[in-house]
Order: sequence, then C-alpha cells, then structure tokens
Amino acid sequence: FSLREFTRQLPKAELHLHIEGTLEPDLIFKLAQRNHITLPYPDQASLQAAYQFTDLQSFLDLYYAGAGVLITEQDFFDMTWAYFLRAQADGIVHTEIMFDPQTHTARGIAMETVFAGIARAARQAKSELGISSYLILSFLRHLSQADAFATLDAALPLRNQYSDLWIAIGLDSSEKGNPPAKFEKVYARCRELGFRLVAHAGEEGPASYVRDALQLLNVERIDHGVRSQDDPALMQYLADHAISLTVCPLSNIKLKVFDSLHQHNLKHLLDRGLNVCVNSDDPAYFGGYLLDNYMQSAQALNLQQADLRTLAANSLRSSFLPKEQKQTWL
Ligand code: HPA
Ligand code: ZN
Repeated sequence: FSLREFTRQLPKAELHLHIEGTLEPDLIFKLAQRNHITLPYPDQASLQAAYQFTDLQSFLDLYYAGAGVLITEQDFFDMTWAYFLRAQADGIVHTEIMFDPQTHTARGIAMETVFAGIARAARQAKSELGISSYLILSFLRHLSQADAFATLDAALPLRNQYSDLWIAIGLDSSEKGNPPAKFEKVYARCRELGFRLVAHAGEEGPASYVRDALQLLNVERIDHGVRSQDDPALMQYLADHAISLTVCPLSNIKLKVFDSLHQHNLKHLLDRGLNVCVNSDDPAYFGGYLLDNYMQSAQALNLQQADLRTLAANSLRSSFLPKEQKQTWL
C-alpha cells in the first residue's frame, strides 16, 4: 500500500483548476484538425518543446494561443470531459473549475457555446462518475474593468440555466501591474448578485495584493497566495481567519515562483497553521495533475500521511459545497 495509493484514496477537492489549462497537446492537434486551424507548430512534440516558461506571462502567451482551437460546444465538452476522467483517476470527489470566457468571446465564440460544452461535461461527470463540480467564471485582469462588466452582462442571461454550476467569480491572468483595486466595482456588483468570490493574488504579485483581494474585493479564497509569507501580520490574519490558499506546487516551479519544489513554502504554510490545499492550476502545461502535485510535494518536502490528510481535508473544507455535503467526506 503505497503513499500514492493512500493519497489517491483520500477524498479530495480540486479548487484551483483552469479548464483551458487542461488542454493536452494531443487534443490541441485533434481539435485544430477538426476545425481546420493551422497551428504554428508542425507536431505535438514541437508544441510541447515550447513549454519552457520563464515567468507567468511566458506561459499565458502559449495558454491563450492553445485555447484558440476551441470553437464548438463539442470542443469545450471534449476538453472538460478529458479533465473529469483524469480527476476520477486521481480520486477527486469535487472540483471547482475556472474558465475564462473573454479568451473565447474575443475570438467570436458565443458565451452560450462556452457554458454549454463545459456544463454538459460537468453534469455527465456528476451522473456517470459521481464527481460534483461548480464553475468559477474568471475575469482576465490584463483587460479593463469595463470589459469584465461586459463579460458579466453577457453571462448573466445564462445564470438560471446553469445555476446548478455557476456560483462563483474569479480573477486570473497577468498579476503584476493589475492589482485587485482595478476590479473593486465589478467585484462589488458580483457580491450583490450573490456570487461566491475568489481571486488570484500573491503568485508573482506582492503580499499586498493578497490583503487587497481580501479587503477590497471581499474574496473568500485566495488562489496561490504563496507570497503572503513576506508579510507576518498578513500570515497571522490568514491563520486566525482560516482563509483558504489554493496552492499549486508544480505550477509555481514551472513559472519560477520558487527555484525548486524543495524550496516551496507549502509545508511552511501548513506548519504555520494556514488553511492551504494542493491544486494543479494548468496541468497540461505544468507536467502533472492533482495526484502528481500531492506526490511530488510529499517527496520534496517530506510530507507525512498526516500532512496529506490535512491538505485533502482542507480542500473539501474550503470548497463551496453546502456544509452537510462536505461532512459526508470529512
Ligand atoms: N495565474 C494567473 N492566471 C492564470 C494562471 C495562473 O496560474 N493559470 C491560468 N491563468
Ligand atoms: Zn491559476
């Protein structure tokens, strides 16, 4: 009975996952062919060889380019269903999936197409695989707040149709120079509308962005948040209020937030009593799905069964599932 099997069998939620970041090179090529799109790479191997990132932006450039093969509802379904099969193999019982509508609507894809494909896979995953999910519509922070408002307005007519899934709002893309303050008004509106709120902060950006995401945007969870360590008073606040940080170890290595997994602060945050959990972020680009993130972190940071149990329990505790449902796993 290996540590991997122990961890696989722990009930786990994945709370920080960009569905466009699950698009594997083979599916990129398959969809490009199906949609008569010519890629700037002759084959899968040369595309994959380009996955050598120096920072967040160098990744985002390829990630948005890759998403350009998604045209039809079936494309969004195929991408999302492939993720659910991986999730099942890793022992995920619940997932809260981020998607970036602006990446698609800017290319002329209808908002309905994006929702319909992802939602069909999510509903099928619930009935066929027993994996529940929610959707987190995420605004691209390199675009304007006006663009975020326009995206919200375009999505709201679909809210009733997808009310079983779309319950939250997120904020991703280029962090530096795009602080939480830029989105204060649209977050206030989303809050009035009753959405749960999360935001990326403290990945490449400073600890002050984590503070601002909490204070100005009123988010309940911080995506990444690893730079919080630079601010002792913030660390105390995060611990006292059990604020969830959705940490993504392999992502942080690929995007050079830390030099190596041995230097990652996951274990430090855990030992300081912070509510951290492990997630895969963009697994097709970062070289590992959820269980790989757990296992490589365990190996590099000498995590024991008790740590792995805490991380898995934190993921479920920090999910947006109703309390009664969480308790069936905890
Ligand atoms: N950070 C910011 N934006 C993103 C990420 C990330 O890790 N993944 C996809 N969009
Ligand atoms: Zn992310």
